[in-house]
Amino acid sequence: MAAKPKENFIKIEDDDGGYNLDMFCIPRHYEDAIENVIIPHGLIQDRTERLARDIVKDNGDGHMVVLCVLKGGYKFCADLLDFIKALNRNSETSLQLRVDFIRVKSYENASVENDQSTGEITVLGGDNLSSVEGKKILIVEDIVDTGRTMSKLLKLVHSYKPASVKVVSLLVKRTERSSGYRPDYIGFEVPDKFLVGYALDYNEFFRDLNHVCVINEAGKKKFAI
Ligand code: PRP
Repeated sequence: MAAKPKENFIKIEDDDGGYNLDMFCIPRHYEDAIENVIIPHGLIQDRTERLARDIVKDNGDGHMVVLCVLKGGYKFCADLLDFIKALNRNSETSLQLRVDFIRVKSYENASVENDQSTGEITVLGGDNLSSVEGKKILIVEDIVDTGRTMSKLLKLVHSYKPASVKVVSLLVKRTERSSGYRPDYIGFEVPDKFLVGYALDYNEFFRDLNHVCVINEAGKKKFAI
């Protein structure tokens, strides 16, 4: 029997009930809005440290342009860069980084002819992508859900002729809506639940929460717009 390929992420099973809120420090304003803590902040940090090491191992002694996808990616990107910086300070090889930011929004434009979504991706702000030409790029994202945002962003970035493009995402959701896209580096594979915290939002709330948590029905109502 062929050996099962080694998974390069931490898998959180569908029936994982997470941790009871009372075991952690949760801001008062979110206490009644969360079902459970699914990935505690400490575990996010430990996994991010290893992702940093893998990235440096694969790309060390060179230059990379880090493209942080806002808003959700800002926490993960900042922590990942801190770990890469620590590795750079303490080793003979070093990966020189430049950091650019991009804010993207996916619009579903119905075409008049066939009523099909064209799914254009619009860059709302950040640095001018023409600076990626000829460079090694690392796109940093918080979560890949259907994979559509990343597929479109990759197409856009490739049109500016970078030397290479790698993607690291803290989370990848297991969902039947997935396009099948998988990032090069994955922190955790998570169940198809609405996750918030560590910069993942629900109507712009919960970015100020340390842990990745599952929102509950009361939370959806409380923070509805
Ligand atoms: C989230 C996330 C990804 C995208 C993933 O962004 O940060 O960019 O959705 O979804 P997909 O794989 O189904 O395309 P969001 O639009 O919520 O914006 P935000 O990062 O500003 O919160």
